[in-house]
Amino acid sequence: MSWVERDLKVIWHPYTQMKTALPPVPIVRGEGACLFDENGRKYIDAVSSWWVNIHGHSHPYIAQKVAEQLTKLEHVIFAGFTHPTAIELAERLLNILPGNQQKAFYSDNGSTAVEVAIKMCLQYWHNKGDKRIKILAFKNAYHGDTFGAMAVSGRSAFTAAFDSLLFEVEFIDLPDKHNIQNLIAQISNLKSNLACFIFEPLVQGAGGMLMYEAKYLNELMAHCRKEGVLLIADEIFTGFGRTGKPFACDHLTEQPDIMCFSKGLTGGTMALGLTTCTQQIFDAFLSDDRLKTLFHGHSFTANPVACSAALASMYLFLDDTTEINIKKG
Ligand SMILES: Cc1ncc(COP(=O)(O)O)c(C=O)c1O
Repeated sequence: MSWVERDLKVIWHPYTQMKTALPPVPIVRGEGACLFDENGRKYIDAVSSWWVNIHGHSHPYIAQKVAEQLTKLEHVIFAGFTHPTAIELAERLLNILPGNQQKAFYSDNGSTAVEVAIKMCLQYWHNKGDKRIKILAFKNAYHGDTFGAMAVSGRSAFTAAFDSLLFEVEFIDLPDKHNIQNLIAQISNLKSNLACFIFEPLVQGAGGMLMYEAKYLNELMAHCRKEGVLLIADEIFTGFGRTGKPFACDHLTEQPDIMCFSKGLTGGTMALGLTTCTQQIFDAFLSDDRLKTLFHGHSFTANPVACSAALASMYLFLDDTTEINIKKG
């Protein structure tokens, strides 16, 4: 049996109507920007395998670092234990993020990085005894497929079967010069109830590459900050050079309170999620009262092999030639 025949017997693919879809392309090798099937046919990976791959497939430096890590420590529980690769990665990343990002919380993928960000905000207010429970998001947003991430995403075919179970979110239009004052007024009306505002900075990827200007996002962010609304920048798609600077937030003058990363974090090699936050948010969880703890984690939180891929990717990303190549692109 061919790979395709064997696949069709046992596999259920994501976002795929299995009744009508074309058979999947069996890929057996990747190199640079290209993928190869079992017959040696070459494909340009123009979607960077869902926007995750930033240095090319099977990069030898990342492969070497992952192989080294595998023979040292493949995994360790991350509550009560730590390991050098997770620490070094958090140090390196925080060093290149907006200055207010002080703490890093690991998870497994983009959706979980968003879940963590939402939980941080909602529990921040809960821990402070404030009843802010509403979330503000953009129409057409996409933040992932788990329930919290779906709730803050635009309602679509992706969410249709679950809409009645998703918590209510205030959705606003992308800002522009015509509607910015209206949007600010809308936020003012909701302010005492708003826990946070989550957004994909400058471009909504899955929504259809919908671009909007830094100037108006800055205005919305500044207004939210004035009203005490926490700001979550979902950089899962835009992070690691996708908008010409390391992060889309580097185009802004305002800084978010929380940032979400995945996809390019490991150079596209392995699944890893990361949510960073300010000292102020972290401090709201410090207490002798156990109930103020952030009770969130995954079996593979901060997996050392994924962290080693991310560290290697970061090393390549911060190399001068990468910046030159981005500018050329
Ligand atoms: C902006 C944004 N947030 C979150 C996600 C979800 O990430 P994941 O697919 O790793 O769960 C995506 C995925 O496309 C995304 O583009």
